[in-house]
Amino acid sequence: MKALILSGGKGSRLYPLTYTNAKQLIPVANKPVLFRVIEAIKEAGIDDMGIVIGSGENGRKVRAAVGDGSQWDVHITYIVQDEPKGLAHAVLIARDYLGDERFVMFLGDNVIEGGISNLIREFKNSDYHAQIVLTPVAEPQHYGVAELNPDGSIKRLVEKPREPRSNLALVGIYMFDPHVHEAVRAIKPSWRGELEITDAIQWLVEQGYRVHPYIHRGWWIDTGKPIDMLAANSKVLEELTPEIRGFVDKDSLVDERVTVEEGAQIINSVVRGPTIIGENTRIINSYIGPFTSIYYNCVIEEAEIERCIVLENSQIKHVPVRIADSLIGRNVLIQRSEFKPRALKFTLGDNSRVGLI
Ligand code: G1P
Repeated sequence: MKALILSGGKGSRLYPLTYTNAKQLIPVANKPVLFRVIEAIKEAGIDDMGIVIGSGENGRKVRAAVGDGSQWDVHITYIVQDEPKGLAHAVLIARDYLGDERFVMFLGDNVIEGGISNLIREFKNSDYHAQIVLTPVAEPQHYGVAELNPDGSIKRLVEKPREPRSNLALVGIYMFDPHVHEAVRAIKPSWRGELEITDAIQWLVEQGYRVHPYIHRGWWIDTGKPIDMLAANSKVLEELTPEIRGFVDKDSLVDERVTVEEGAQIINSVVRGPTIIGENTRIINSYIGPFTSIYYNCVIEEAEIERCIVLENSQIKHVPVRIADSLIGRNVLIQRSEFKPRALKFTLGDNSRVGLI
């Protein structure tokens, strides 16, 4: 089997972070979401992966970060999608790479509990033409939605219906045999101008092909918005096996669910887990609350933060109020200003968001 990972898109709901980085490269628990996807696929026994990337700067960033896959001992082929024309369009342009093999398609911004080994095993040992993953969600109108028959088979799949007929959303993990290539050629673009994979699967169902709905019971997060990134971060942090590889001084109080990476220093601070402190990051006279990931080369000094993701080379110093539920980019500086007037002073990128007390 092969894997097709989708890693295009502008990530506009994560602006301004995604002006300078691909959304799939934003780390969750200090590891890019895309790397987690590659590892989940490798763990399921697949080491031949195609990654669909955009033709712009974000695509180049993905290529630079992932390379040829040798860091995971897998083989990566890149497939360039000139414009974001939909998930089924990605399958269409990956035809040569995929050949006549069965494959798993995995959206590069999805994080799922427990990996995909079970799913792959079930599909491999079956005669299904396709397998989809469904899970109950609170707001199904934002996803592809499945309506099932009383016997559990699929009745109908609709992409982002205004009036959903069930609460079962399509998770961004799909398994196909070569019949999907007929399907993606048969469908027409949707109202949003995209070739929808949901429509392609609906076409397979209509033609009488066996499409198996697998109901996923654990957590699953599509990391489209900042709030989803923070939720995914919390879930993955809870699963980490903590390890102290850095330095913790005797005046600090570090919870047992905390990972301190190599070269990191915790000085006179309180750190509550689940939390991860990245390589060469220094925490000085500060409080780091649960569900926080601080990436490498950061400094947190005389500050309190909790349930945050802080990216590399950022500094938060002498901040008089606690920072919570925040996504902080690279090379960011947040510090108390000594100069008059006493005011909040910002230099914010386009589409930044600030929440005041
Ligand atoms: C896509 C699919 C949708 C699926 C979702 C899962 O939505 O079109 O059916 O439920 O991924 O993440 P999009 O991210 O393109 O809005």
